[in-house]
Amino acid sequence: MTTFALSLRDVIKRVDDGASRRTVLDGVSLDVESGEVVAVRGPSGSGKTTLLAVAGGMLLPTSGEVSLKGEPLSRMRDSHRTDLRRRHVGFVFQDVQLIEGMTAIENVLLPAVPDGLDMKSRAAALLERFGVAALAKTIARKLSGGERQRVALARAMLLDPAVLLLDEPSAHLDDERVRWLDAELEALAKDGRAVLVATHDPRICSRARGLSLDHGKLVS
Ligand SMILES: Nc1ncnc2c1ncn2[C@@H]1O[C@H](COP(=O)(O)OP(=O)(O)O)[C@@H](O)[C@H]1O
Ligand SMILES: [Mg+2]
Repeated sequence: MTTFALSLRDVIKRVDDGASRRTVLDGVSLDVESGEVVAVRGPSGSGKTTLLAVAGGMLLPTSGEVSLKGEPLSRMRDSHRTDLRRRHVGFVFQDVQLIEGMTAIENVLLPAVPDGLDMKSRAAALLERFGVAALAKTIARKLSGGERQRVALARAMLLDPAVLLLDEPSAHLDDERVRWLDAELEALAKDGRAVLVATHDPRICSRARGLSLDHGKLVS
């Protein structure tokens, strides 16, 4: 039996928006293998960000199961789940979320802080790989949109995650940077990880397996 890096089975997520309860994810099942890029498309409000948050164990589903490397998240204690997520899931948020007062390399090193690991050479190598080595000591608030994205990608990759999740990663990128990111995501998957991208940008992940979210239901 294949153990998928990431597996969602019959995931339902309901949220309470104050006035009413809404079903944001409505029975989503999805497997992403190591080596694969999967793009989830769908208009704004279709549930893409919620899907990534549930897939990465940041949010628990109302029902259904999410497994990381074959380990079902719902049966874990919170502390174990947090730990598994931190070690095995790299997340690039839509708004990137760098700590503005820290340098690029300090941002990249953040995931290593809880373990007290010295990962400076890996952080520097990732900044180099993503073409921003010269900016390692630049304060995050001085970086451009494209530079921030590369730093965020380096940070997500620091602990060599089995699963990489990206939310609308091309939103603020020009065509040339989109092509760069596209090729990079394929390479990162080929290195042996599952890459799941939420996007409504037709420029990105054109060669990837594509799925669509429509009112919380996933269709291929
Ligand atoms: N915690 C929440 N409380 C209330 N509504 C939410 C919550 N999370 C998501 N939603 C709603 O669920 C829908 C899907 O949101 P989202 O996952 O952000 O979609 P997308 O990323 O595709 O734009 C939206 O209508 C959003 O307002
Ligand atoms: Mg979103």
